[in-house]
Amino acid sequence: MRSTSVRRLRPDSIRPDPLTDALETNHMPLTNRPQYSTLTQFLIEERRRFPSASGDFNALLLDVALACKAIARAVAFGELGGMLGQHAAQAGGCVNVQGETQKKLDVLSNNVFIRRTEWAGNLMGMASEEMDLPYQIPAQYPRGKYLLVFDPLDGSGNIDVNVSVGSIFSILRANRDAADSRRDVTEADFLQAGSCQVAAGYALYGPTTMLVLTVGNGVNGFTLDPTLGEFMLTHPQMQIPADTQEFAINASNARFWELPVKRYVDECLAGKTGVRGKDFNMRWIASMVAEAHRILMRGGVFMYPRDSKDATRPGRLRLLYEANPVGLLIEQAGGRASTGEVPMLGVRPSSLHQRIGVVFGSRNEVERIERYHAEPARSDADKPLFCERSLFRN
Ligand code: F6P
Repeated sequence: MRSTSVRRLRPDSIRPDPLTDALETNHMPLTNRPQYSTLTQFLIEERRRFPSASGDFNALLLDVALACKAIARAVAFGELGGMLGQHAAQAGGCVNVQGETQKKLDVLSNNVFIRRTEWAGNLMGMASEEMDLPYQIPAQYPRGKYLLVFDPLDGSGNIDVNVSVGSIFSILRANRDAADSRRDVTEADFLQAGSCQVAAGYALYGPTTMLVLTVGNGVNGFTLDPTLGEFMLTHPQMQIPADTQEFAINASNARFWELPVKRYVDECLAGKTGVRGKDFNMRWIASMVAEAHRILMRGGVFMYPRDSKDATRPGRLRLLYEANPVGLLIEQAGGRASTGEVPMLGVRPSSLHQRIGVVFGSRNEVERIERYHAEPARSDADKPLFCERSLFRN
């Protein structure tokens, strides 16, 4: 019989210990924890860099964080909360503006974002994946100078199978005249390039709930302490390594990809024996927010490129509330975000729910993909994707 080197615990070595006791009784030993800053403390310290700031911005971010905590709780209850499954048509429609079926939690999360942020006088308006038109702040509340754009529950196709989902948000400054006039917001107010974002972030509802945030000064990650109900700064100044051996793409779309994408993926798949000279690993969670988090933690490249699957859709992901906020986070962490051809954050949006090809992650890989797009088309014979060994031959 083949011997194994796996070491197992001996039954007599499993003794009671204070940490296991604490975990079982739901009390983490506070004394063992490092003294992390809270999100509130972090925001107050950031604000000290801007002595003239009114505090509206911080107040808005704390309201967004509270919305994320409420959604985290709803997600965590799963079936017990009665919130899984499709949204009932009679309760406001079951297909969103994208033509996608809405889940109960999509609708609930959208409402939570609105209710938690509309009242405080910090917002001029909101836009969301789940709403056809911009949301007007109700007349009983004051209006403010910021615009909030969000995807309340990204990856919601994964909810029913208990795989990580998240909320993505972006904060823009409203045009000054518009903010002063207190008029209703229009679609045009939101059509600002990603480089205009004053903050962006996401909450990831995974094994732990995390809030990852940029206010334009790097990227900071906070872990929700469920006993305190506070986001604690556990991942200060996150940085994406420039190189990677991991990529993420929905390979079932391979026959619709453009040649530069096929070439890149083929070279990765060729591994050590190909032009890259190293093996690559592939991942696909189908929750962009979870893939972005993995890349922020350990590098990698994510692609949902423009393809020929549906001529009416120049890409799958949405520019204003998916690609731009994640793009800003990635760039603030030293990575790169692109359409494949041009920097994502420079794209001038043309409509609220615009879709776009997305490539982001480790800087050197994204630049390579951009180079492949920029290079004049080579003759088929030169292209590894047409070699015999290609996995993605048409
Ligand atoms: O845009 C929503 C989303 O769920 C993303 O989070 C994810 O990357 C993508 O769609 C998954 O798409 P597909 O179903 O093609 O894998």
